[in-house]
Amino acid sequence: MTLSRTQAILERIFAAALPDRGDVEAILRLEDERHQALLFGFADHVRARFVGEGVLLRGIIEFSSYCRNTCGYCGLNRDNTALVRYRLGADEVLAAAENICRAGIKTIVLQSGEEDNLDADWLRGVVAAIKARHDVAITLSVGERSRDEYALWKKAGADRFLLKIETSDPVLYKELHPGMSIENRIRCLQDLADLGYQTGSGNLVGLPGQTLESLADDILFFKKGDYDMLSVSPFIPHAQTVLAGASTGDLAMTLIMTALTRIVSRNAHIPATTAIGSLNGRDERPKALTVGANVLMPNFTPSPYRQDYEIYPNKRCVTEKPGACPDCMARMTAALGRPVDYGRGDSLKQSPGVLAETPSN
Ligand code: 5AD
Ligand code: FES
Repeated sequence: MTLSRTQAILERIFAAALPDRGDVEAILRLEDERHQALLFGFADHVRARFVGEGVLLRGIIEFSSYCRNTCGYCGLNRDNTALVRYRLGADEVLAAAENICRAGIKTIVLQSGEEDNLDADWLRGVVAAIKARHDVAITLSVGERSRDEYALWKKAGADRFLLKIETSDPVLYKELHPGMSIENRIRCLQDLADLGYQTGSGNLVGLPGQTLESLADDILFFKKGDYDMLSVSPFIPHAQTVLAGASTGDLAMTLIMTALTRIVSRNAHIPATTAIGSLNGRDERPKALTVGANVLMPNFTPSPYRQDYEIYPNKRCVTEKPGACPDCMARMTAALGRPVDYGRGDSLKQSPGVLAETPSN
């Protein structure tokens, strides 16, 4: 394939209301570095034009590692009896939230495993207490819940919700998520959007059994959902899961998927995921920021709990001092010539094209 043909395919994918699956697959098949560089440059250009130069920070508090599910890839799965489980008290969550605000960060992400007996009213109280004390956006990431629970937390002040589809491939989804259904996951995403949450989805790259066709379908799923936020992570095998012996997701494919996600979503907020920073001993998040990503997620889970939120092994930022991430991230973005954006970083979906008209290119 010539470079000009790759360029033409990228332009078609960018312009299409729904890209052609064959076009997306052709990009996923690119192995030549010059072609990949063309893709990455295109995605970086879309990022600059639709979301600008700033890198947004979202402070994450992993408040509980209990989980009722048995997802094939995840270290928090309930069958992992080797994992020390913890649940923070409301006072501990509020103290961590205080640390995030003191660092000047305006988004707090409250994440947990999918707790069997999460007390919806407890979480409502925590959300309301944070909102009463601080002028911040709150993102929840607590899994599949009823519409009524989502509504309760929205009313208490939650702004956003992350619920990755993980894979849009129905057969693979079923294999990896015993007792769960892709239909219910999509129902949740729809409820969240209906209730007015800024909604995030995303996937895992390099899952055993995942094909290029199914990765292409993930990109189409992202496009159709018009999500406010999207996240692409490499699969990292965990010893206490059924996928223990599987190989790690490929960095290049993760970057290609990140770039395609930027091109189809234009102004979605896309993190350089912690998993990208953790997959091979080197921190590859800076690379992700140059192929479409515009968000970093500093970890504010207090010690000693932080090490026990082991979704996958060798997670970055676990041994660092609490509160170390923001400075580290400021250095990371400075090295790329990009500023940290200390704004809330709300969805840009309500104002599509605003930045498109700025004379940045
Ligand atoms: N490797 C990478 N990411 C993982 N996640 C869960 N398990 C793994 C793994 N083994 C991601 C899922 C989930 C998020 C909280 O963590 O995408 O949505
Ligand atoms: Fe967390 Fe570097 S980003 S310590």
